Amino acid sequence: MERTLSIIKPDGVGRNLIGDVIKRLEQNGLKVAAMKMIWMTKAQAQGFYAVHEGKPFFDGLTDFMCSGPIVVMVVQGENVIEQYRKLMGDTNFEDAEEGTIRREFATSTRKNVVHGSDSTESAALEIGYFFNRFEIVG
Ligand code: CMP
Repeated sequence: MERTLSIIKPDGVGRNLIGDVIKRLEQNGLKVAAMKMIWMTKAQAQGFYAVHEGKPFFDGLTDFMCSGPIVVMVVQGENVIEQYRKLMGDTNFEDAEEGTIRREFATSTRKNVVHGSDSTESAALEIGYFFNRFEIVG
């Protein structure tokens, strides 16, 4: 059993896509083990995306991520990191496979509706960024 961090980004929350994203997780056998809605500060967004610091999209990305509420979730299941990334589709929605969340709902590379951890190491770091162990109940 593996865990990953999932974020429904401000565009997803603003466009009422919370239910659509969670439905896809659940329909694919994944479980929500923790969940909350928060509104990040710029500093919190910069901390979360620290690995991207210095990249040309960093400032726009962190501005966007604190532009409205987000839903952060710990998602659990077998091989969940890879499975969830498959459900999300490619970062660039135009390259994302048909039927994926980003293909269906994203409107740009920045406004791509969801985030998911890309490795076990980043999942552990990212889950720890938002949740303490008493909040992960699933
Ligand atoms: P995410 O999975 O949250 O991880 C980093 C985010 O940076 C990514 O999704 C995109 O939203 C954003 N991103 C990556 N590359 C670009 C880019 N070239 N232009 C704008 N945003 C980007």
